[in-house]
Amino acid sequence: MTTIKFDYSPLKKFVHENELSEMQQMVTACDNELRQKTGAGSDFTGFVDLPIEYDKEEFSRIKKAAEKIRNDSEVFVAIGIGGSYLGARMACDFLNLNFGSWQKDRKGPLVLFAGNSISGTYLHEILELIGDKDFSINVISKSGTTTEPSIAFRVLKQKLVEKYGKDEAAKRIYATTDKARGALKTESDAQGYEEFVVPDAIGGRYSVMSAVGLLPIAVAGGDIDKLMDGFAAGRDDYNSPDLSKNEAYQYAALRNILMRKGYDVEILENYEPSLQYLGEWWKQLAGESEGKDQKGIYPSSANFSTDLHSLGQYIQEGRRFLFETVVMVDNPRYDIEIPAESDDLDGLKYLEGKKMNYVNEQAYRGVVIAHTDGGVPVMTIHVDQQDEYTLGKLIYFFEIAIGVSGYLNGINPFNQPGVEAYKNNMFALLGKPGFEKQTDEIKKRESDFF
Ligand code: PA5
Repeated sequence: MTTIKFDYSPLKKFVHENELSEMQQMVTACDNELRQKTGAGSDFTGFVDLPIEYDKEEFSRIKKAAEKIRNDSEVFVAIGIGGSYLGARMACDFLNLNFGSWQKDRKGPLVLFAGNSISGTYLHEILELIGDKDFSINVISKSGTTTEPSIAFRVLKQKLVEKYGKDEAAKRIYATTDKARGALKTESDAQGYEEFVVPDAIGGRYSVMSAVGLLPIAVAGGDIDKLMDGFAAGRDDYNSPDLSKNEAYQYAALRNILMRKGYDVEILENYEPSLQYLGEWWKQLAGESEGKDQKGIYPSSANFSTDLHSLGQYIQEGRRFLFETVVMVDNPRYDIEIPAESDDLDGLKYLEGKKMNYVNEQAYRGVVIAHTDGGVPVMTIHVDQQDEYTLGKLIYFFEIAIGVSGYLNGINPFNQPGVEAYKNNMFALLGKPGFEKQTDEIKKRESDFF
């Protein structure tokens, strides 16, 4: 069964086939750097072999913890931000569809996410939603010191302690963090929380298939064995440097060719609302990996057909620097037939008896043709269905492709030096100990801005 198929046929107008084959030498070199760990940032390429080198003992502890949480909690809050949030959120939506957490016959807890903003309103609403329900939390932070999750953790921990007392609260806190360092590790050791590890060799945006993503996904009812099987199948399928065989590398190489032709913005698109967070996860993966040294494709996302009614005009006729990558689910889990009506007041008679997925597919086809005609290159990653196996493979597809894309563009795809600049200013403005000198400097500059 073909679970994922990459199709770049509509690119004929923009890229000659020989341009792709001419990338082979560079792709081979980048593949070699990645797999031999000779490239920049190679300390963080642990995701490449994670499908076979994951911690099996921890994996079964994750399943046990998830089972316990599913039995003793009506609400589960995963606390984290960036790479410690987006993968789990993306996978929960992808697998449980749009309202999975809210379904009437839902067996496990309602899964919520916190610590992904500094909004007091958002956290207030989470507290209200929890109310007096039984709940557990999973605080996820590799550094253990990130401001947003640390604040949310403090607030939710206080609620746990008020409800259950300190000892029982500690049994309802699951900490996913560095194996040796950081404030969360220190607190977790002191309080006896069950601990899971963010592996050293895996950066936040590549960490969804570690405990970072696996515990929330398992609590949400995802079959993490099948997810890992799909991830391993990705490692098998996308392990050849040969561009004619490796579709993930075809995607990486074509992105690079398009970028060099002036297509600087990539829009990741879907036709299923439950894939919205796939776009959010991918934006971090691509943006944080590639946007450095004043280079890189700007990653954006759109949800179709919704955004065809908002962004569609720009994509069709605006500045020509966009290209699109569609993730298309070929066999959606459900379908609905468009009913007949005796009159035709809404003018939909021509669709009576047709299925919604058929209509969605025609929308996709119409868009590919229109946007290509309008000068926008379109590629499609067809995914057979929305299940764990397919998702595991898709995650591998994107991770390996973005790693190689970064090397093709001559940057280190595994660091993120640029994310510290605003934090230093924020800490200085908030008067964090250790930032006294910066506080004086930024106070002098504040009036230039506000
Ligand atoms: O990819 C990254 O490094 C970031 O997005 C981090 O994942 C994010 O800042 C959260 O960091 P931490 O897990 O240390 O709390």
